[in-house]
Amino acid sequence: MPRPISDAIVFFGATGDLAYKQIFPALQGLVRDEGLDVPIIGVAKAGWSLAQLKERAKDSLSSHGGLDTKAFAKLTSLLRYVDGDYNDPSTYVTLHQELKDARRPLHYLAIPPSLFATVVEGLANQGAGTDARLVVEKPFGHNRESARQLDRILNRFFPEEDIFRIDHYLGKEPVQNILYTRFANSMFEPVWNRIYINSIQITMAESFGVQDRGKFYDETGAIRDVFQNHLLQVLANLTMDPPTGEESDAARDQKADLLKALRPLDAAHVVRGQYAGYRSVPGVRAGSTVETFVATKLFIDSWRWAGVPIYIRAGKALPVTTAEIMVDFKRPPRESFAEIIPPASGHMRLRISPDVTIALGLRVKRPGEGMRGEDVELILTEQATAFIPPYQRLLGDAMHGIGDLFGRQDIVDAQWRVVEPVLNDAAPPIIYEQGSWGPTEANELIGSDGPWHNPKPTVPRP
Ligand code: BG6
Repeated sequence: MPRPISDAIVFFGATGDLAYKQIFPALQGLVRDEGLDVPIIGVAKAGWSLAQLKERAKDSLSSHGGLDTKAFAKLTSLLRYVDGDYNDPSTYVTLHQELKDARRPLHYLAIPPSLFATVVEGLANQGAGTDARLVVEKPFGHNRESARQLDRILNRFFPEEDIFRIDHYLGKEPVQNILYTRFANSMFEPVWNRIYINSIQITMAESFGVQDRGKFYDETGAIRDVFQNHLLQVLANLTMDPPTGEESDAARDQKADLLKALRPLDAAHVVRGQYAGYRSVPGVRAGSTVETFVATKLFIDSWRWAGVPIYIRAGKALPVTTAEIMVDFKRPPRESFAEIIPPASGHMRLRISPDVTIALGLRVKRPGEGMRGEDVELILTEQATAFIPPYQRLLGDAMHGIGDLFGRQDIVDAQWRVVEPVLNDAAPPIIYEQGSWGPTEANELIGSDGPWHNPKPTVPRP
């Protein structure tokens, strides 16, 4: 049954980075594409006026996604601003007044997690928790225990179904397409298991460093920043069972089951790297042992996946900015022709960022005498990036109370469970050159299941 739509949006951290880079563009998109027409209230402690916030919104849109004059005019007519300290009860009184007769506001906490408790408590004291929704951003905690603690705080004031934990990867069209393509065709399911699949690789490469996020990143590292959330979510979409039943949580239930079946990481199966020069980034501690690259070998302890090695790596300052999945099918059980079929001839390649490609690798006969073949790739689809931006999609879904594309308490907990054994590794990471594919030790990790598949850069379309 459709749930009622939120009748106001409140975003805390209105003058911050997330609002600047993601929230204003998402709001303008919702106004333009979906006729969003509810009060939008920014909250921050900056001593700003509403005019300043509007100016900031304009700036944000000029550099992120482009200003749409008509939609922007509408957006600014909906915009309000509350300036106040999150610790001061009067901030919530003013907010309450601004909300007027809104009954079901959506509160977006675009603020550091250390302030979550203060703000949800402030909201609850004003009665703003009733029928309201709450959107929180990753990171959800710093480890399993702190994530549970965070949940306890949020659950004191908001029921689970009204909490929307953003992992923006789930809002990405190509990530949803993994699930769609798998379950909208019957031909993949019969071979999607240990009998036909040799190994799986997922690579998330970024050609840039940590930029101006040195302080944040140095408290986070690649495992917490992208592996625990984005990449485990991608893996879940790739390997989970098909949703059953009609309950709205059917897909998330299967995802949770899959993540709970993942074997926690073993330090012997993890290679941590740090790009040369990272330690001189402003905000990074001298002698930091935080990883900017990680390569792991994982297993899913289920009948479907028993014994299939899964290799995931992510890194900054690598040669390209792309994310790609490579599913390697087993070679034929014996050679039928006078040639050895090369490994990885049979594969499925799913490029999930920045563009979409879904391709099947096969071996076909080369014309001429003799039964000799060549590897070909059948491109099932190639799509450019004209997608709904993830934050627009997710904010729209949260307003409608649709939770499929959000984290859930048990899912996030299962994700922390996987990385927990390797979170506190203070051993110095292996230094790698910027623009390389990370430490060569990652090649030893993949061994005879390799080599690693290095995604190619995106070629601009004519
Ligand atoms: C964020 C990480 O969650 O995802 C960043 O904090 C990373 O470090 C980013 O660069 C990647 O997302 P996208 O959408 O740019 O691929």
